[in-house]
Amino acid sequence: MAYSYMPGFGNDFETETLAGSLPQGRNSPQRPAYGLYAEQLSGSPFTAPRGTNERSWLYRIRPSVRHTARFEAIAIEDWKSAPNPGDHQLALGQLRWDPVPMPNAETDFLSGIRTMTTAGDVYTQTGMAAHVYVANTDMVDDHVFNADGELLVVPQEGGVRFVTEMGVIETMPGEICVLPRGLVFKVELIDGPVRGYICENYGAKFTLPDRGPIGANCLANPRDFKTPVAWFEEKETPCRLIVKWCGNFHVTEIDHSPIDVVAWHGNYAPYKYDLSTFSPVGAILFDHPDPSIFTVLTAPSGEEGTANVDFVIFPPRWLVAEDTFRPPWYHRNIMSEFMGLIRGQYDAKEEGFVPGGISLHNMMLAHGPDAFGFEKASRADLEPVKLDHTMAFMFETRFPQMLTRYAAELETRQDNYIDCWAGLKKRFNGTPDGDWS
Ligand SMILES: [Fe+2]
Repeated sequence: MAYSYMPGFGNDFETETLAGSLPQGRNSPQRPAYGLYAEQLSGSPFTAPRGTNERSWLYRIRPSVRHTARFEAIAIEDWKSAPNPGDHQLALGQLRWDPVPMPNAETDFLSGIRTMTTAGDVYTQTGMAAHVYVANTDMVDDHVFNADGELLVVPQEGGVRFVTEMGVIETMPGEICVLPRGLVFKVELIDGPVRGYICENYGAKFTLPDRGPIGANCLANPRDFKTPVAWFEEKETPCRLIVKWCGNFHVTEIDHSPIDVVAWHGNYAPYKYDLSTFSPVGAILFDHPDPSIFTVLTAPSGEEGTANVDFVIFPPRWLVAEDTFRPPWYHRNIMSEFMGLIRGQYDAKEEGFVPGGISLHNMMLAHGPDAFGFEKASRADLEPVKLDHTMAFMFETRFPQMLTRYAAELETRQDNYIDCWAGLKKRFNGTPDGDWS
C-alpha cells in the first residue's frame, strides 16, 4: 500500500479520510460528523508566540481518555533518561563502537531501544538522549507515546513503518522521521530486521535553522518535509498503550486500537525528510565552514545560537577548495558530539567507523582525522573530488553526554580507538618547511 504525504515544514495542514469528517470554519462543533470526538493536542503552551505555537485538532472515534485505563508500572531496562550519570566504571575518553548486534530473541522496536548517552535533565525538559534501536518483529497490539520528548529516528538498516494516530509514515535508510512528544504510534518493519539511531529531544522542538547570508534557499528546504495524511483503523480487540513519562514506563490495557483519528488539522504533526534532498553549501575557493553549515534541524535552547540539540549530516558533496586541508579539522568543543554512519565512509576516518557504528566526542575532548586520514589529506592532489555514497550524521548538544552502562559495557566498543591518532608524527623541526619525511 502506498501512503500519501503533504509537503511543507510546520504548515497548517488539514486531512480527512472520510468526506466531510473534518469540520469546516470551526474546531469544536456541537456534534462532529460521523459521531467523532473533537480533541486538541497541544505541543506548546497555549500562549506561546505565534511562530512557536503548535497544536492540532484531532477528530477521532474515541477521545484519548478512553485510550487509557488504569496504569501499571513496567520496566523497559535499556531505555534510560537523563540524569543518568556514573552507573559504569569506564574512564573518560573518546569512544567508538562497531554496530550494535542484531538480536536473536524476538525484539520489537520498543524493546529494541538501547540508550547510549543521556544529557541534561528530563524533569526540566532540557537535553537529550542518544539511542540505538534494533528490531526483528512488528509491534502488533502495543502502542506507545513518549511524554518526555520528540523522537528523531534515523534508520540505518531496514525500512520502518510508523503507524501513528495522525497517519502512517514509511521511512527507509537515508530518510529520517520525527515523532512529536505525546504522539501515539507503533512500529512495523517494512522488509526484515532493522537497526538505526534515535535522538530523544527533551527540549524545544526541532525546527529549521536560520540561513543568515545564505538566503532563502539551500540546506533543508521546507517543501521536502512530508507529513502523512490521516489514517485510522477500527480495531475492537485488546491493545496496550505504553507511556514513557519522566523516564519511567507505564502500561494500560484497552479493548480497541488508539489509532482512530479519522480527520485532523493543525501544525503539530509527525513528518519525514529524505536526506538526499539536503542541498549542501560549502567552500568554493579555500578553507571550509564550520560543520554547522550542514545542520538539517535544530532544537534551540533559551540561549541564542546555543542548541539544545543540532541534527547535522555529512552528505555526498564535492570538495574543491584549494590549498586546504579538506577533511574536518582537529577540534575541541564546548558541544558534545554523538556520530553515526548510515552508509559509506566518513572522510576523516576511512577505517574503523563503519555503517551502523557510533563515535562519541564529548565536551572538550580532542578529535579529528586519524593518522591515515591526515597523511592522505596532507599529500593529496587538490583536484575536485566528489565524496559519494556516504551519509554520516551527528547529534550535537550543549550538554555533556553521559554514557550509559549499556554503552560502556557493549562488546562492540573499540578499546583501541584512541590509537587511531598515535601515528600523527611531530613535524616541527624549527624550519618553515617542517619535516614531511
Ligand atoms: Fe567536532
